Amino acid sequence: MNEYDSTRIANLLLASHNLELTTTPEEADVLLLNTCSIREKAQEKVFSQLGLWRIWKQKRPNLIIGVGGCVASQEGQDILDRAPFVDLVFGPQTLHRLPQMLVDVQQHRNAVIDTSFPQIEKFDCLPIPKAEGPTAYVSIMEGCSNYCTYCIVPYTRGEEFSRPVVDVLSEITTLATQGVREITLLGQNVNSYAGIFPDTEDTTVDLAALIRYVAAIDGIERIRFTTSHPKDISESLYLAFVEEPKLAGHVHLPVQSGSDRILAKMHRGHTVSEYLALIERLRQSRPNISISTDLIVGFPGETAADFEDTMELVDTVGFDYAYSFIYSPRPGTPAIEYPDSIPIAEKQDRLLRLQALIKAKTQTANQRLVGSKQRILVERQARKTSQQLIDKMDKSIQELASSITGLETESMDKHWQQLAGRTEQNRVVNFIGPLDIIGRFVTVHITEALPNSLRGILCN
Ligand code: 5AD
Ligand code: SF4
Repeated sequence: MNEYDSTRIANLLLASHNLELTTTPEEADVLLLNTCSIREKAQEKVFSQLGLWRIWKQKRPNLIIGVGGCVASQEGQDILDRAPFVDLVFGPQTLHRLPQMLVDVQQHRNAVIDTSFPQIEKFDCLPIPKAEGPTAYVSIMEGCSNYCTYCIVPYTRGEEFSRPVVDVLSEITTLATQGVREITLLGQNVNSYAGIFPDTEDTTVDLAALIRYVAAIDGIERIRFTTSHPKDISESLYLAFVEEPKLAGHVHLPVQSGSDRILAKMHRGHTVSEYLALIERLRQSRPNISISTDLIVGFPGETAADFEDTMELVDTVGFDYAYSFIYSPRPGTPAIEYPDSIPIAEKQDRLLRLQALIKAKTQTANQRLVGSKQRILVERQARKTSQQLIDKMDKSIQELASSITGLETESMDKHWQQLAGRTEQNRVVNFIGPLDIIGRFVTVHITEALPNSLRGILCN
């Protein structure tokens, strides 16, 4: 979500102030830090980065420094108290007001703060997006009203609200005309999407219906969504997995813990067996679906037995991949008040054990794909490839690429590179091919499973 917001900030300031992104921040006129406060570590980075920028500003007093995102939302005025050289503080829901805030700073040289939640106004004020490559994120809802007891998001991004259907569809249509083939529908809790239609404000469209509308847009070939909440998965979504081939076979479904006792203390609204039943339904609806998750270890009061339950859940489900974190107490959340007697060394130990198990499961899932053929949307050049490697390549693959692109093999030779794309199940695949196929769907024969990616050969 933050990456998406950063892109929107860049588009916005290009349109309003003709500000261009630079790769040399030392020379920038405006420096903006888009911050995350989900865990303490992310938050700490903000002030160390600002410390460096302060030195730059001493040399160039006209430099404008802004802090946005969830840390800004959480800390507000405190940022200015701790870092008085900051000119702008804006929250995740006020980034669209940046052009005016920038004008105010330039005119008055006074610090400007706005971390309110004006909600939908944000989308109305953002310029039409510019595609960067064949995949794009599109925000469909923002904020969260789940109030998991450890989580800061409802306080920094506000309560959940859905973007109107027509706004979402027109943004995607624009992206499709710019060559985007894959859309990821984005939100903290996309399963509770309820978008209004114009003129019919009493009926809303759910995520599954939205997916079907998106699938009908010319050029869009693959649809993903993230992030899901287990308690909000609907019957209509299972049906979408059965019926909508453009809906990619992957769900990121955070479970957080494998212990019912901890899930209840986290206020997650479901049990382990309910979660397992969801996984079962998803696998029935789309047999080869891949499932990933988020896990927290060391939540206050997590006993050794609770942790073993989490290990068992990971073992049972066999997640394709998972992100895992040590619980980080966040200011203003209920869990910060819970007695927490687990020593940090014990938490680290649990995390290491969990991550070793996750790694083994990912390796198994990746290994299972070796020998299969996968449909890949070619996204980008992975890294430079030596001419030697390309010369060694089978002529038949060059001919195949030539038939895909309609280009002569000779004219493509100098463009051969290591390319990267993702399978429908969201696995990164690296393979050698001509740059000209970036943005297209191709078939790749998987030859090797690495810890976090796959390697393959272009085929038909
Ligand atoms: N401590 C550790 N991890 C957290 N997450 C959210 N809040 C916290 C916290 N206070 C994790 C959850 C969530 C992911 C985005 O970040 O696993 O799914
Ligand atoms: Fe945070 Fe996700 Fe829970 Fe919302 S559903 S409170 S974003 S962990």
